[in-house]
Formats: sequence, structure tokens, C-alpha cells
Amino acid sequence: MRNPPLGLYIHIPWCVQKCPYCDFNSHGLKSELPEQEYTSHLLDDLRQDAALVNGREITTIFIGGGTPSLFSASGIGNLLKGVKQIVNVAKNAEITLEANPGTVEANRFDGYAEAGVNRISMGIQSFQDTHLQALGRIHDSQQAQYAIALANAAPLNSFNIDLMHGLPAQTLANALEDLQTGLAHNPAHLSWYQLTIEPNTPFYSRPPELPDDDILWDIQAKGHALLEQAGYRQYEVSGYSKPGFECQHNLNYWRFGDYLGIGCGAHGKITQVQDNTVTRTVKVKHPRGYMDIARPYLDTSTLVAEDDLAFEFFMNRFRLVEPCPKHTFEDYTGTILTNAQREELAKAVNTGLLTEDEKNWQVTNTGRRYLNTLLSAFV
Ligand SMILES: C[S@@+](CC[C@H](N)C(=O)[O-])C[C@H]1O[C@@H](n2cnc3c(N)ncnc32)[C@H](O)[C@@H]1O
Ligand code: SF4
Repeated sequence: MRNPPLGLYIHIPWCVQKCPYCDFNSHGLKSELPEQEYTSHLLDDLRQDAALVNGREITTIFIGGGTPSLFSASGIGNLLKGVKQIVNVAKNAEITLEANPGTVEANRFDGYAEAGVNRISMGIQSFQDTHLQALGRIHDSQQAQYAIALANAAPLNSFNIDLMHGLPAQTLANALEDLQTGLAHNPAHLSWYQLTIEPNTPFYSRPPELPDDDILWDIQAKGHALLEQAGYRQYEVSGYSKPGFECQHNLNYWRFGDYLGIGCGAHGKITQVQDNTVTRTVKVKHPRGYMDIARPYLDTSTLVAEDDLAFEFFMNRFRLVEPCPKHTFEDYTGTILTNAQREELAKAVNTGLLTEDEKNWQVTNTGRRYLNTLLSAFV
């Protein structure tokens, strides 16, 4: 077994208000943002986790939410300064911050860059006001354009825009127009998510009318072609980027890399080479409980059972378009393929879900479409 690369995820759990489709761990802000108090909890949380990684280098940091851009630039500066005093952050680490495209947040982009952030990911969703309103978003199309222009001008390595498709009352033309407007800003990375209706959301209890399956299929096929023609490569189910601008933090998740997760509800995955184990950690979910000094930050810590490692490895790995080096299976799971698993992989090659050569496995387009079938062999 070998240590995979290590990332750090930092969760900021507040938003101005909750969007009706969102099931992320986020809460509408009801009083003043407890920026300093929460930062001090995050750093205490990290001090405890640092013992798990023994000075290993952190190569990516992702500050996600929620809406991390509710934090001031100096607040993010203090957070990153504190992080760098506790753990060993690589000099050239990718440091991403998720931002909402409100005017206040956009005016902070230069300050975030000065604080050490080198990549901004903006939740644009759509450039059409009717669709933004249907999603319960508080920004409009003009603010979205303004925010992207500021991200483009800020001293960052790159920026991402999140767009969603399959929105209530959206036509094929609407969806392609959103992509074209986004591409006109030349982002290095574009995440393109199909709206999913999640349990425990207002969209689940009062479902809006969504485009039918034929329209969804057309949007998917024509949108994908448009992105590829514009020079973007799909490297994951919803991830498109110009070559070399893939999100390194997310790539590391899907390559079965390690990550510490600090903040409300944050998940972590840590390899312990000396014990040949992989541990998953989850922090207390609700801000009130997380910031309660009488409670530990850690909610659960679970050893991944040896029998589950192959499934978990392939479930992450086979989301990616890139080939999977075979040696990483043994390196990162600490187990060797059983005969039954070898047979399943051979079967997947015979049925066209996978290709393989001496060094790599690679999922085919069909394999990605039928990922559940492919993975069911490893449950
Ligand atoms: C963790 S969210 C946070 C980003 C930021 N707070 C925002 O919403 O603008 C990251 C992205 O997930 C996508 N997303 C959230 N809920 C979704 C859903 N139900 N279906 C599809 N995509 C979703 C949105 O594109 C969003 O920008
Ligand atoms: S702003 Fe983002 S994280 Fe917050 S509720 Fe909306 S979708 Fe969820």
C-alpha cells in the first residue's frame, strides 16, 4: 500500500437563503455570519485531524459550501494562514473557493487572490433571468456576467463556472444559449450539471415541470458536442475543461486519493499505510452542534471493510474518462484483485464496458452510461 496524494476540503455551511433544489449541507443565514468563531473551530478541527496525516503534503484545498464567498477576503486570508501553520501545504497547491455571483462577492475576488486563493468556482446556473428565478437564485444574469468579468480580470490561475441544465420549462435552445454565453467568457473549466430532484427539498415535495426525456437527451448530446467543439474535454460525468485545467482537487477524489474534511458535515478519507487501512471520517453536521465546545467535531470514523475497497475504488475511478493505471488498485486499496474480480473485469472488457492493456483499464462511453451495471459486479 502507498499513500495517494492528499487534499483538504473546508466546508462553509451558510447561504443567504436556501435554494429549493439544494440538498447540500447549507443553511439560510438568520443572523450575523460568525466568521471569526467558525474559523477558530475550523482550525481546531484541523489541528485534531493533522495527527492523522503525519506531516504529509497537502496538494489541493477546496473551500466549498454553502456559500464560502460570504466570508470576507481577510476572513479567508486568516483561515488560509492558519491552515498553513498547522499542515504542510504545497507551495503550488491548487486553492479553490466557491463563490456566488452576487455583486458583493464578485468585488472580493482580487482580495481572495491576495489571500492565497488561485481558483474561483462560480455558481452561475443559467444566464436567463426566468430560469434563475425558477431556481430561487438571488442573482440575475447581469450580475452573473459582471462576476465572470471580474474573475477573468483577477490574478487567478483559472476559474470555473457551474451551469445547470434540464431546468423547469427549459428548451434545447435555452440550454445551448446558456452554454454559448458561458463559453464566450472563455472559462478554463465548466461544470455542467443536469438538475436532479433530491429528497427533502421543496422541489421534491412540489415538483416543477421539467423538460421531457427527449428534450433532456437532445440537450445532453448537443451541449456535449458544443463544448467539445469549443475545445473543452469532458474528463468526468459533469466536468469539462480545457486540457490541463481539470480541477485537481476533484480529480484526486475520483482517483481514490486521500482528503481531510473539516467543517460542518465534512467527509474525509485517509489511508494509514502502516496498518494497511482506509478510514472515512464525518464531522458533526449542524453548525450549532459543530460549534458546541462541549462536543467533539468528529461525528463518525469508520474503517472501510476490506470487502468494500474494490467497489469504492472502481466507483470513483470509473467516473473518470482518463485511463486507470492498474497498479493504483493495489497501491491505494492495499488489497490484490481476487480471481472473481479479475473475471468480472474480463467480462466487462468482453461486453465493451471497459478496455484494457498491460498498464491500464479504461471505461468506454458505453461503460460510463451503464456504470451501475459495471459496478454491480464489485458489490
Ligand atoms: C455545492 S453547490 C455550491 C455552489 C454555490 N453555493 C452555488 O450554488 O452557487 C455546487 C453546484 O452544484 C450544483 N447543484 C446543486 N444542487 C443541484 C441539483 N439538485 N442538481 C444538479 N446540480 C446541482 C450547482 O450547479 C452548484 O453550483
Ligand atoms: S446557494 Fe448553493 S449551496 Fe446555497 S442553497 Fe443555493 S445551491 Fe445550495
